[in-house]
Amino acid sequence: METLQEKPATMPRIGDEAPAFTAMTTQGEIHFPHDYSGKWVILFSHPADFTPVCTSEFMTFASMESRFNKANCMLVGLSVDGLYSHIAWLRTIKDKIEFKGMKNVEVKFPLIEDITMKVAQKYGMIQSGESETQAVRAVFFIDPKGIIRTIIYYPLSLGRNFDELYRVLIALQTSDAFSVATPADWNPGDDVIISPAGSCGMAQDRMEGREEGLECKDWFFCTKKLDKAMVLNTILKS
Ligand code: BEZ
Repeated sequence: METLQEKPATMPRIGDEAPAFTAMTTQGEIHFPHDYSGKWVILFSHPADFTPVCTSEFMTFASMESRFNKANCMLVGLSVDGLYSHIAWLRTIKDKIEFKGMKNVEVKFPLIEDITMKVAQKYGMIQSGESETQAVRAVFFIDPKGIIRTIIYYPLSLGRNFDELYRVLIALQTSDAFSVATPADWNPGDDVIISPAGSCGMAQDRMEGREEGLECKDWFFCTKKLDKAMVLNTILKS
């Protein structure tokens, strides 16, 4: 039961402004989210340095970093370890660890030191049912205006799927750029969902095929083609 002294855990939600903080990282001090204004950011936590699942995740994420950067997205990691532990762990990864054909992997994105758990608490990354002392594997997608757009949590034992994180980023950007929604398992090149009919007349028009380029499974569920090259050329501008 919660005592009077215990502060309730804060859990930012989708649509909230990303909570602001200043922190020391392996790439120097950052002012978050201010330093990332105009860019997408994936802020993610991991339980601890020098642990195997986290090591596999960092090697995978670092190997994919340029793909995220091309989609105007920066990566920022966090654990409740200190700066020297972070530095030693990243050096070990680069110098000694080989995983799934990846080796000499240099982690160039910032890794926040958060011994005080100040940032982890703000972002609801400490979930006491899982661990009182280690952050869960949280992933926050934050848009260029500093708004949280997607949150995904994984437990300590489960390594993330980074292709899925990339798919989420591209889907969010596609929704914004083309004012569409993306159906289950969507990937660029697949059909997208248009906003539902807002009137009985529009519903009727759609069912009778009077809106060109749509395929309607029913009045509330219409899709249209969205060319893969158009999606990728819009999103991967650099
Ligand atoms: C890991 O990254 O290997 C790990 C970290 C905390 C608990 C379990 C596994």
